[in-house]
Amino acid sequence: MAVQRKLTIDDLSAMKQDGEKIAMLTCYDATFATTMDQSGVDIILVGDSLGMVVQGKTSTVGVRVTDIEYHTACVAKGLNRTFLLADMPFGSFHHPTTAMKNAVRLLRAGGEMVKLEGAGPMIEVVDYLTSRGVPVCAHLGLTPQSVNQLGGFKVQARDEAGATQLVSDAVAMQQAGAQMLVVECIPATLGREVALAVDMPVIGIGAGVECDGQVLVMHDMLGLGGRVPRFVKNFMQGSLGIQDAFEAYVLAVREQQFPTVEHEY
Ligand code: KIV
Repeated sequence: MAVQRKLTIDDLSAMKQDGEKIAMLTCYDATFATTMDQSGVDIILVGDSLGMVVQGKTSTVGVRVTDIEYHTACVAKGLNRTFLLADMPFGSFHHPTTAMKNAVRLLRAGGEMVKLEGAGPMIEVVDYLTSRGVPVCAHLGLTPQSVNQLGGFKVQARDEAGATQLVSDAVAMQQAGAQMLVVECIPATLGREVALAVDMPVIGIGAGVECDGQVLVMHDMLGLGGRVPRFVKNFMQGSLGIQDAFEAYVLAVREQQFPTVEHEY
C-alpha cells in the first residue's frame, strides 16, 4: 500500500478486502519504531512480550500497565505511517470499568487500538469498551497470559470442538465491536477458517499463511535470544542489517512466502 500518512483501521480493513497481506511486528522503543516505519511495517504491537524480551521474565504475567504505557509513548514518537497497537497486560482488563480506565491510559500514551487476550467474559468487556469509543483487537488461540492455566506454551484448538469454539469466539468478538483479531499457535487450516469467518483483519502468529497478516516478536525475527517456537523465522539470515531484515519480512509477508509449512502446525 502506497499510503504515506498514518494508516487507519479502514486502511487495514481495505487491505484484507483487497487480499493484500498485512505485516505486523512487536516493538518497544522509538529507534526501532522509526526503522520499522521506514521498512513498510503496517502495524506495530507494543506487546506484553516485553516482559520476556526486555525485562527478562519467564512469562508475560508480571507486566504492568505502566510498562506498556511507557513503551507505547516511546514507540509513538518514532512513527509516521505505521498503525500502533498497545497490549493490555494480565489483570488490567478483566472488569469493564478497570479495562476502560487502563485502555484510556494506553490510548493517551499514543496507542490507536488496544489488544486483549481471551474470550468468554472478555466478550462483554470488548462490548463495553467498543461502545465507549475504544478500538479493540481481540487475541485468541494461545493466550500467553494464561500460560500457567494452560500448562505451557502449547498449540491450541487442535480438535474439532476447539476449532468450532474458536471460530464462534472470533465471530462473537466481531459482534462485540472488535475491529482486529490476533490468533496465536493454532493449526494453519483453522487460521484460514477464522480469516474467512470474519470481516475484520485476522493477524496470525503460528496460524498459517492464509491469515490476513502476520506478526512476530521483533527479537525472535532478528535471531536474538535462545530457543524459539517453530513459527519463527530469523530474517537477519541473508540480510545486510536490521532495516534490511524488516524489509525482507514485509516482502515475505506480502508475497505469502512467510510462513511456509515448516512454520505451521
Ligand atoms: O505480546 C506480544 O508480543 C503478542 C504477540 C505474540 C502477538 O501478543
